[in-house]
Amino acid sequence: MGKGWTKTDWRAKPRVQMPDYPDMGALHAVEATLAKMPPLVFAGEARRLRADLAKVARGEAFLLQGGDCAESFAEFSADNIRDTFKVMLQMAIVLTWGAKVPVVKVGRMAGQFAKPRSAPTEMIGGVEYPSYRGDIINGFETTMEARLPDPNRMLQAYTQAAASLNLLRAFSTGGYADIHRVQSWISGFTDEDEAARYRKVADQIAEAMDFMRAAGVTSETAHELGTVDFYTSHEALLLEYEEALCRIDSTSGLPVAGSGHMIWIGDRTRQPDGAHVEFCRGVQNPIGLKCGPSTTAEDLKVLMAKLNPQNEAGRLTLIARFGAGKVGDHLPRLIQTVQAEGANVVWTCDPMHGNTIKSASGFKTRPFDSVLREVREFFGIHKAEGTIPGGVHFEMTGKDVTECTGGVRAVSDEDLSSRYHTACDPRLNASQSLELAFLVAEELRDRRALQKAANQ
Ligand code: PEP
Ligand code: CO
Repeated sequence: MGKGWTKTDWRAKPRVQMPDYPDMGALHAVEATLAKMPPLVFAGEARRLRADLAKVARGEAFLLQGGDCAESFAEFSADNIRDTFKVMLQMAIVLTWGAKVPVVKVGRMAGQFAKPRSAPTEMIGGVEYPSYRGDIINGFETTMEARLPDPNRMLQAYTQAAASLNLLRAFSTGGYADIHRVQSWISGFTDEDEAARYRKVADQIAEAMDFMRAAGVTSETAHELGTVDFYTSHEALLLEYEEALCRIDSTSGLPVAGSGHMIWIGDRTRQPDGAHVEFCRGVQNPIGLKCGPSTTAEDLKVLMAKLNPQNEAGRLTLIARFGAGKVGDHLPRLIQTVQAEGANVVWTCDPMHGNTIKSASGFKTRPFDSVLREVREFFGIHKAEGTIPGGVHFEMTGKDVTECTGGVRAVSDEDLSSRYHTACDPRLNASQSLELAFLVAEELRDRRALQKAANQ
């Protein structure tokens, strides 16, 4: 990796899903400005995430990746970041409780701005507009001016990502995430049953903490209790932005994406000879690869060889996203390909992108039951194949939005219009996210029982 590769090589490859900037002079000026900025993340952190993901690959940890479909400039606020961070901590607690292994926490945050689209244009009120491609590229408003790609948006995205990361680092290490506060994260629950369910787990943890304190183990003596590692990730779609933030790691001399700890390649941009694979293969960060129904065994073989030539555990995460009812048609053949190649990968489940439907009320939504069903199918197939279901990948928010239908508080089709705020795909709200964590924790208890049996 890194050898014989330069960060501009992707420019000679076919590119899809990227904007054509009308003003090349403005684009070059932005690229030059970004190239002088400090990286948002550091090589040592990306290496640490790789090591954490290697544990996930071996079944010694579990991956929780989640956050917005698309971060937006308008929705940016400290409260939104705190709420998503808090729900992820709550989910991680519940999952750790179920799996009895550490949970690796990765936000779709601080850089998740650029979106692939199914069509380059859309019809609104009889007028054809260029599609919205995420706030880092163009504006959501339906005017021709807003929809024009503007490179200056990259600078605003960088600034927002830097501010988000600053806050996330403060939350992670400044006392907020101290496990002794596990009971206080309960504030904000609107649902009594859910609060009670969480409180039960939190109380048991608090009791274990009391015991540890009595035995002399506190946040002061055991650093791990007082802080968490929280990583960032996004789809590496806008390669001008990625290239401008690519840096050389002074320790290893190898290139690293400075835009986020983990970057992934989307289901629409994973052409083995395309620009996105070319860029991602050269940086040291952990790489995600979305695998949808059209992923062939042949492509997967080539992609694994290109993206992880040394076959290192933790380098490559395969993010399965087939849709409820379709996992059985695709996951077994891809697992068998991975096994036949002897490839070290993390398998994780994105139960969001294969389950998007249009509701009767006209909103893009995802039924909670389909999301859960896909997760269950994912676990079931790994169990049958004897392989490790390593994690989950959700589009979610800490806010009480109404974007996905169902869940214990039963968001209905008619409810969708009340708090539908996403700039792109529908997200699970705080209550739905936590409910899902409890249900995944049950599957994980199963996984643990299996591993225990295998070790005996
Ligand atoms: C996404 O994760 O937001 C996304 C667009 O996913 P996919 O590439 O799997 O469709
Ligand atoms: Co999405």
